[in-house]
Amino acid sequence: MRIPGLAIFSFLSILALSVSRQPGSSDELAYGTFTECLLRRSNPSYPISSAIYFPSNSSYSSVLQSYIRNLRFNESDTPKPQLILTALHESHIQTAIICAKYHGLQMRIRSGGHDFEGSSYVSNAPFFILDMFNLRSFNVSIEDETAWVEAGASVGEVYYKIGEKSNIHGFPTGTCPTVGVGGLFSGGGYGFRSRKYGLSVDNIIDARLVDVNGRILDRASMGEDLFWAITGGGGSSFGVVLAYKIKLVRLPPKVAIFTVQRTYEQNLTDIAYSLLQIVDKLDKEIFLKMVIDVVNDNRRVGKKTIRGTFLCYFIGDSTRLFSLVNKKFPELGLRKTDCTEHSWAESLVRWNNFPSGTPVEVLLSRVHPRLEYLKRKSDYLKKPIPKQGLESIFKKMIELETPLLKFFPYGGFLSEISPSEKPFPHRAGNIVKIEYATNWDESGILAANHYINLTRNLYNYMTPFVSKSRGAFFNYRDFDLGINHHAQNSYIEGAAYGNKYFKDNFHRLVQIKTSVDPENFFRNDQSIPIFQSIGSQ
Ligand SMILES: Cc1cc2nc3c(=O)[nH]c(=O)nc-3n(C[C@H](O)[C@H](O)[C@H](O)COP(=O)(O)OP(=O)(O)OC[C@H]3O[C@@H](n4cnc5c(N)ncnc54)[C@H](O)[C@@H]3O)c2cc1C
Ligand SMILES: *[C@@H]1O[C@H](CO)[C@@H](O)[C@H](O)[C@H]1NC(C)=O
Ligand SMILES: *[C@@H]1O[C@H](CO)[C@@H](O)[C@H](O)[C@H]1NC(C)=O
Ligand SMILES: *[C@@H]1O[C@H](CO)[C@@H](O)[C@H](O)[C@H]1NC(C)=O
Ligand SMILES: *[C@@H]1O[C@H](CO)[C@@H](O)[C@H](O)[C@H]1NC(C)=O
Ligand SMILES: *[C@@H]1O[C@H](CO)[C@@H](O)[C@H](O)[C@H]1NC(C)=O
Repeated sequence: MRIPGLAIFSFLSILALSVSRQPGSSDELAYGTFTECLLRRSNPSYPISSAIYFPSNSSYSSVLQSYIRNLRFNESDTPKPQLILTALHESHIQTAIICAKYHGLQMRIRSGGHDFEGSSYVSNAPFFILDMFNLRSFNVSIEDETAWVEAGASVGEVYYKIGEKSNIHGFPTGTCPTVGVGGLFSGGGYGFRSRKYGLSVDNIIDARLVDVNGRILDRASMGEDLFWAITGGGGSSFGVVLAYKIKLVRLPPKVAIFTVQRTYEQNLTDIAYSLLQIVDKLDKEIFLKMVIDVVNDNRRVGKKTIRGTFLCYFIGDSTRLFSLVNKKFPELGLRKTDCTEHSWAESLVRWNNFPSGTPVEVLLSRVHPRLEYLKRKSDYLKKPIPKQGLESIFKKMIELETPLLKFFPYGGFLSEISPSEKPFPHRAGNIVKIEYATNWDESGILAANHYINLTRNLYNYMTPFVSKSRGAFFNYRDFDLGINHHAQNSYIEGAAYGNKYFKDNFHRLVQIKTSVDPENFFRNDQSIPIFQSIGSQ
């Protein structure tokens, strides 16, 4: 067994904590079941029973399934919650925490349900789901250029509600409209405006959280450490995020986009090679993403080829976009007619592949357009890949066929922010983040093992090209990096994934976790562990 360094041990002994359970503050806690506790302790002005779904309630399955976004966790053998609490009021959350703590029941917090490993609605220990989808108000103040957004809101709602009030304000975050604010913002929030404005967390100025004692805290009362932790370190290790206050950013009334595709036969190797030389150095307004996948070769029946899709989002007009890209990246062979101009709300509809003319109200839909079985992994690229390397990767991809690679540009404002400013550490020195994305349509463990294996094979194949430390993006949760059993080795188990997601910030996250949730109530398979004294459980 590997043990952490001496420094940590001396720190541990100072922090040595009792793990004995504190009894509840009032006698009401001391009898009955978890459900009885919920019913007895809830504020009668906000009846909780209409928010509780047991397996015996007829809508239990539909409530459970409506926010399962990865069909891998929609199987009959996926562990199911004892109940789902669809909180209608903040007091329901306070009650749920107090009762779950007393009864030793695991809580899973779910906002948009997009977690790639289902960690917001699956647990191997007995558990219940705290579902946040009813708490999704959004109050924007254009005068202050700020907004308060509740955790159960979706990204699409954020975009739409800002757009209702102003056509020159926006927010840097992800693009897929159904993703939830609770998970996306608490874990970082990268998107097509991040090279200019940073991550979502770089633009969050306040938050409201229910802590392990059921108290509602804001930035001033939680303090800067806890605020720092829940803006990039994930919410679910620290409490239940109720809402974030965001700083809006200014956008021009029109933005420009293009999508062009090149196959292997159209010199994709040279184009991809050139892209990796320049993509992080382009003007901050240019977000140029490359997706590499395997497609049928039109010219040779039964053969496969490699396709590159180049998707660009530009905070500016199409004339300038065309001239900047042609000057710095002539290998792409962009034509003026490839670039189109849109209001930024329209650009989102286009960017998400809705047919042109689709009303922007589509951003409000909570129905995911196409659910599939998913596996994701991530990497960071610090040196461009040589041409020969690209050739060999393409060959490997043809062999594996299904997994595809997405290259997300870094640089710009992202690299001007210190890696310790927020728990998200992947700042200067990264050319792109690579996402390994495998989607499939067959149910069952055999199919899952097959496709997950393919994804791991490609990830392993990439070893010589990517960062040695193999940093990973926390929002792309990946249980291959390790999971935590929350027993004697929990610090070491936590460091396995924690160092990849958070690098040098992991240690500070553990310190904060230890001080705000010393009994480790808020835990899941990849939560931040607490420091434990030697010999304690
Ligand atoms: C289709 C798709 C597109 C994506 N696009 C992007 C993208 O463009 N940029 C990007 O950065 N990421 C992206 N992601 C990843 C996404 O950011 C994460 O999966 C994120 O955690 C999803 O948030 P959620 O609320 O939908 O998920 P959930 O599954 O509800 O939650 C994810 C995690 O956050 C915790 N959590 C949720 N709500 C709260 C809360 N209120 N308080 C405390 N903890 C909470 C959960 O317990 C869980 O651990 C994408 C994912 C998908 C599936
Ligand atoms: C679920 O059923 C219980 C009774 O078994 C009831 O009290 C509760 O209100 C039902 N939940 C909902 C949301 O209707
Ligand atoms: C999830 O599983 C249920 C139960 O098997 C099934 O009825 C439902 O269609 C599944 N959801 C999707 C989107 O496939
Ligand atoms: C928005 O305003 C409404 C009405 O004042 C309030 O009930 C709600 O809590 C507010 N939401 C946020 C996230 O501040
Ligand atoms: C590929 O590159 C070669 C050599 O640079 C060039 O002659 C050819 O026109 C290019 N092909 C395409 C489709 O761009
Ligand atoms: C996983 O991939 C490896 C390497 O290609 C292969 O040898 C192994 O049989 C695969 N396992 C499964 C379960 O598909």
